Amino acid sequence: MLKHHVLFDETVIAARVDQLARAIRKNLPDLAPVTIGLLTGSFIFLGDLVRALARLGVEPQVDFMAVSHYGPSMESSGQVQVKKDTALDLTGRPLLIVDDILDSGRTLSVVRDRLVQRAPSWLRTCVLLDKPSRRIVPISADYVGFEVPDVWVIGYGLDAGGEGRALPYVAALEREEN
Ligand code: IMP
Ligand code: MG
Repeated sequence: MLKHHVLFDETVIAARVDQLARAIRKNLPDLAPVTIGLLTGSFIFLGDLVRALARLGVEPQVDFMAVSHYGPSMESSGQVQVKKDTALDLTGRPLLIVDDILDSGRTLSVVRDRLVQRAPSWLRTCVLLDKPSRRIVPISADYVGFEVPDVWVIGYGLDAGGEGRALPYVAALEREEN
C-alpha cells in the first residue's frame, strides 16, 4: 500500500455527509431528485450520500456518468471526454451532480454544461473534496464536504493509479523523497 496519512477519518466523513444531506434536503424543490455520480471516484460518497438523503425522506434516483481525461492518470490534461452518459429523462427533475473531488474544475464544468441542456428543474453540484488552489476553470460546487490543500488524496473512492479506493478514510499520499 502506498504511504499515506489520514486527513478525514470515517467518523468525521459520516458526520459531514449527514450535514450535506440536510443542506441538500432543505433546498430540494421536491423529494424525488436524480443524483448522478461521476465514475469511478464518487461511488462510495454517492452511496453514503443517497442513504443519508433517504433517512431524511428523500427518494433519489441514482445513476452514474463516466468521463475521462486524456493523459497520465495523476495529471489532468486539457480535454474531458464523456464515456458513459445517463439515459434518464432529466426534464423537469431536480438534479444533483456528485463528484469525489473538484480539482482543475474541467470535469464538473463539462458535465454541468452538458446536463443543464436536458432541462432539469433545479441543478446543483456536490463534491466531497475541493482543491481550490488547483482551479483552472472558474467553477465552485454548491455543496462541498471538505477543502484540501494541493496534495494527492486517496481513499473513500479516490485512487492513485488504481490503488487506495477502498480505504474507509480520506488520506494524503506521502511525497516520495528521492
Ligand atoms: P478536474 O477535472 O481537474 O476537476 O478533476 C477532477 C477529477 O480528477 C476527479 O473526479 C478525480 O477523479 C481526479 N482527481 C483530482 N485530484 C485527485 C486526487 O487528489 N486524488 C484522486 N483523484 C483526483
Ligand atoms: Mg473523478
